[in-house]
Amino acid sequence: MLSADIQHAVPQIDGTPEQQEAMTALHHEFNVTTQRARTIVQQFVEEMEKGLDHEGATVPMIPSFVTGRPTGQEKGKYLALDLGGTNLRVCEFELKGDGDFSVHQQKYVVAEELKTGDMRHLCDFIADCVDNFITEFGSHHVDHSIQLGFTFSFAVNQTDINRGTLMHWTKGFNCTNAIHKDVVVLLQDAFLRKNVQVHVAALVNDTVGTLMANAYRYPKTSMGIILGTGTNAAYYEKLGKIKKWKGAEQVFDEMVINMEWGTFDLERRVLPFTIYDNKLDRESINPRKQLFEKMISGMYLGEITRNVILQLVDERILFSGESSADLNKQWGFETAYLSTMVVDDTPQLDHVRHILEETLQIPSTTHGDRQVVKEIAIAVGRRAARLSACGVAGVLLHTGDIHTGADIAIDGSVYEHFPHFEKYMVETLQELYGQDIANQVRFSLARDGSGFGAAMIAMMAHKASLAKQA
Ligand code: BGC
Repeated sequence: MLSADIQHAVPQIDGTPEQQEAMTALHHEFNVTTQRARTIVQQFVEEMEKGLDHEGATVPMIPSFVTGRPTGQEKGKYLALDLGGTNLRVCEFELKGDGDFSVHQQKYVVAEELKTGDMRHLCDFIADCVDNFITEFGSHHVDHSIQLGFTFSFAVNQTDINRGTLMHWTKGFNCTNAIHKDVVVLLQDAFLRKNVQVHVAALVNDTVGTLMANAYRYPKTSMGIILGTGTNAAYYEKLGKIKKWKGAEQVFDEMVINMEWGTFDLERRVLPFTIYDNKLDRESINPRKQLFEKMISGMYLGEITRNVILQLVDERILFSGESSADLNKQWGFETAYLSTMVVDDTPQLDHVRHILEETLQIPSTTHGDRQVVKEIAIAVGRRAARLSACGVAGVLLHTGDIHTGADIAIDGSVYEHFPHFEKYMVETLQELYGQDIANQVRFSLARDGSGFGAAMIAMMAHKASLAKQA
């Protein structure tokens, strides 16, 4: 248990005794102990089973209608559209076989007004971007209608490979006239209005796209995870275990399940909520929703940190009790600052100082202040990683892969950029199951994989529909 003991040690800082005391208390509040992790994993397994058993469960476990595994030999040109992170991306992929492909892509910024306005305007904007992309960057397609895979990274109740109704918005999106509507119909209508000759062949969650993209190169990949602006996971499930499945007879053995794990523990049974999480949740546009996501993903980690800092300012433990207009602003503390602070090894913590004094305009900070802020950043990020590992462990226990090992594709800014995120995840798995088992769980970064996965799923769906017509 040596590694666990080191990991759970309270950081020692050379600030004031009040700062040390506050640090000790925060350390305990943000520490997901091994025991707590076990409880969370157990609850995760139970929630997964409920979600597979019936509709309306907390973790919805949505059948994605993606059944096959790619062989790596798929070929052809397909478009992909990716909505749900920071940008809208339009890409054209050419799959060349042997796990090889090439891509052209273009990013478009989605204005804040579009994220919360009428869904029709968002769809018109998307159609314009696709039109612009095809005109400026797309190669000539032989077919009249270009086939497109639509990565729509929100909870959708999927009713077919290219059909699904939006359940709820997340990650700061909140368009009107979209909930319970079929998002493919809405987008296809916009293409019609704008006379853009594109057919939406597949509707894909980003986790499912990430899983498929990785599987094109490494066919044994069994799980796709996003740890970015939001968080979620998808994995291959045996048909027999999807008890609620009422679809076509057994024409497949396994289907990818989009878990929507961000909804986990809506009942607040096991997650280690702090007052900082509760404040964030209450002030968010989706209170009492996505509680697991709010502890893990990039949209929120900066805001949790800001809440902790402000509490310590109010107690006059930080910055002699002085805040600044920038720090007082909701979302004013970017998650990207955490990564910069965590790796600051300069003796006077110059990078932490720069963010606090130059970027956030706090009048002055002591070395002790900066140490405290750096330690808060570490604690918030490490908690996110340990909770993510609990989700992974839950899935692997449920599937049984915990005994045989697993290849897991992960994408997202938090996983990619937060220092030691993967190391913290692995440590958690080691504490729970021992080193040998943890070593058999292989994580790989699948950067921007979801668009590619969506293009491939569009191809598989298009070929299947041509085969049906023949
Ligand atoms: C959405 C998921 C998505 C995840 C990662 C969550 O907010 O509900 O559908 O996969 O973010 O982008």
